[in-house]
Amino acid sequence: MSVINRAAFLQGPKDKCLVTTTAPYPEIKNDHDIIIKTKSIALNPVDHILQHNGTNLSFPWLKYSVVLGHDAAGEVVEVGLGVTRFKKGDRVVGLGYGLDKSEKESAQSGRYPRSTFQEYILLSEHMTAPIPDQITYEAASVIPLGFVTAACGLFQAEHLKLDLPNQANLSRSTGETVLICGGSTSVGMNAIQLATAAGYEVLTTCSPRNFDLVKSLGASQAWDYKSPTVVKDITKAFNGKKCAGALTLGNGSAEMAFDILQHCEGNRRIALGTFPLPDPLPERFVLPRMMFYISTWMLAAFYQRLTRGIQYNIIWSGTLIQDGIGKELFTNFLPNALRQGRFRPAPETRVVGTKLEDIQAGLDGLAGGVSACKLVVQL
Ligand SMILES: NC(=O)c1ccc[n+]([C@@H]2O[C@H](COP(=O)([O-])OP(=O)(O)OC[C@H]3O[C@@H](n4cnc5c(N)ncnc54)[C@H](OP(=O)(O)O)[C@@H]3O)[C@@H](O)[C@H]2O)c1
Repeated sequence: MSVINRAAFLQGPKDKCLVTTTAPYPEIKNDHDIIIKTKSIALNPVDHILQHNGTNLSFPWLKYSVVLGHDAAGEVVEVGLGVTRFKKGDRVVGLGYGLDKSEKESAQSGRYPRSTFQEYILLSEHMTAPIPDQITYEAASVIPLGFVTAACGLFQAEHLKLDLPNQANLSRSTGETVLICGGSTSVGMNAIQLATAAGYEVLTTCSPRNFDLVKSLGASQAWDYKSPTVVKDITKAFNGKKCAGALTLGNGSAEMAFDILQHCEGNRRIALGTFPLPDPLPERFVLPRMMFYISTWMLAAFYQRLTRGIQYNIIWSGTLIQDGIGKELFTNFLPNALRQGRFRPAPETRVVGTKLEDIQAGLDGLAGGVSACKLVVQL
């Protein structure tokens, strides 16, 4: 009996409503692929941004109808011949990277088996982790994109190049301090936990209502990013510390990090998590207005590099799929850390529905912003 798959499709640029209909059942493409039956899907800002702005600017290789979605947890229903870590029936969480350039060929033929807004998803063994019994599918589904983006910024050579968490010495301290601007974002909460697991002290920013939360994840101090004295306060806190660099999330965070890092000793490098985009996003003349905003922003950043000696790069989370860091973290770090409670799926979830048709309401909800929370659809 053939299995019927269904997916939520974005049928054209800026369509206001995803359309749920039948979709090809994914095929195992290589020996290390697995197929899961989706139990929970988490929604990310990029899903909303791609629907709102169209895919041309940042993902020009995509062909409509597009299946969006990066985060999912579910039950394994099939495994490739080379899969050793998973078997049918296992509960897993993994990164869906159907939109990544590495999947261009599939996207050009209008197929998105690795995107997560569907009932059956193709995942890669090396970007998937088992879910321990004490963690629900919903809670686990918030992990992948936030975790991967944080890992890119913290560990990749073109970003902060921090040491990876050392499994053999869990209490190791590097004696260095990293700044994570936007600690209560999904990416930020993953970054705080990864950086502290790797032995770095974390200073962070968020709204005061989330101070206790970011400290519970490992940050040593937190400041309100809206405070008029935030740059001065964090600069002072860095006094006598060796800086390991900054990861910036949220509008204005990069500018804040440029102002702080110019006074710091150590690594003056910024991993830009939030792509510079106008806020709010323009409704008309989108492409020219975005291009103008981005070029002006880049020029100003380049001036900072020249005058203050601060290096920066924009994170592209898809790069973690091939570089070995993703495999190391999903295979060796995350399973143990989740099982032992050393790593917490964060943020908390808010369930916005129980079927693919509910994803749209969730994406509309994301447009209004969330605070320390991830919207999920349980299937
Ligand atoms: N480059 C990549 O590959 C990549 C991949 C994934 C995500 N991202 C980007 O990373 C950023 C975070 O994504 P996410 O999914 O983690 O977001 P999210 O969880 O949806 O972000 C919500 C949080 O943003 C915080 N926030 C809002 N404005 C802020 C500001 N100006 N400064 C600091 N924090 C602010 C809020 O904190 P409070 O409630 O505490 O105020 C809220 O908790 C987004 O810009 C996203 O587009 C980039």
